[in-house]
Amino acid sequence: MSNNNATDMTFVPATDSVGVEVRGVDLRKPLNNEAFGLLEDAFDRHGVMFVRGQHLEAEDQIAFARRFGELQVNFNSDLYGLPALPEIFVIGNIEEDGKALALKGVGNTWHSDMCYTATPPRATLLYALEVPQLHGLTLGDTCFASAAAAWDALPATMQQQLEGKRATFDFRERKRSRPVSAETVAQYPPVEHPIVRVHPATGRKSLYVMRDDCTAINDLPDDEAQRLIAALAEHILRPEFVYRHQWQPGDLLMWDNCTVQHRAIADYALPQRRCMYRTTIAGNRPR
Ligand code: OGA
Ligand code: MN
Repeated sequence: MSNNNATDMTFVPATDSVGVEVRGVDLRKPLNNEAFGLLEDAFDRHGVMFVRGQHLEAEDQIAFARRFGELQVNFNSDLYGLPALPEIFVIGNIEEDGKALALKGVGNTWHSDMCYTATPPRATLLYALEVPQLHGLTLGDTCFASAAAAWDALPATMQQQLEGKRATFDFRERKRSRPVSAETVAQYPPVEHPIVRVHPATGRKSLYVMRDDCTAINDLPDDEAQRLIAALAEHILRPEFVYRHQWQPGDLLMWDNCTVQHRAIADYALPQRRCMYRTTIAGNRPR
């Protein structure tokens, strides 16, 4: 097993545009600043980073996530947080005596986590405990799309038109299927973000537009705004910008909510079980 020397670590890109696998690291063990620096740099540049074959306790996951910044306690921890460790909440479909032990149906449409808040999280981590299998096939993949590669691929004239525009995210108007309580709506008043975000570490630009969450683009008439949102959201999902992660138990994977959008593939049901521990790393106001 690795002692987490920087020289032991290798970085294998998952696609040309997004994702990197790190080998030669054991996240139960401490990471010195040099080793952590390599990981953080790879994460910032590739948008999705994963390590396979881990054997983590909840505390190990929290300690690793904490290296990247303050942790956020998600509102779903009220019902699905680990007892005494609300920094982790459980997503998946597992249940006991008819009672759900995990939040079901998370992220089944393309999105960036908590984009409807004033300070969306820098990153989200999932640690896979149980991955659904059917007839030897793995189900429950997660897809990731690089909104940075999508920005780079736009014609310069289009980029110029988009620079400086801002979008509104209004929870009351959004089109995601999951019903939300009046309390949640009250908790997240409408916010505005730039539709072209600048990554705080790399300076790279990304499109920050989601079809289900952006409810308006400022200064544009509604029909024009809706067409632009749909066109940009669709552009981000071009196959050359997408990495599809097939999970294995023991995978620790994290994504950057500035440069990447993601979507869960809901192609499984009990008795195929899925169970993930989720941690959220706080972020700054988008610029
Ligand atoms: C999330 C999410 C996708 C998945 O945790 O924010 O979108 O595949 N998860 O579980
Ligand atoms: Mn999500």
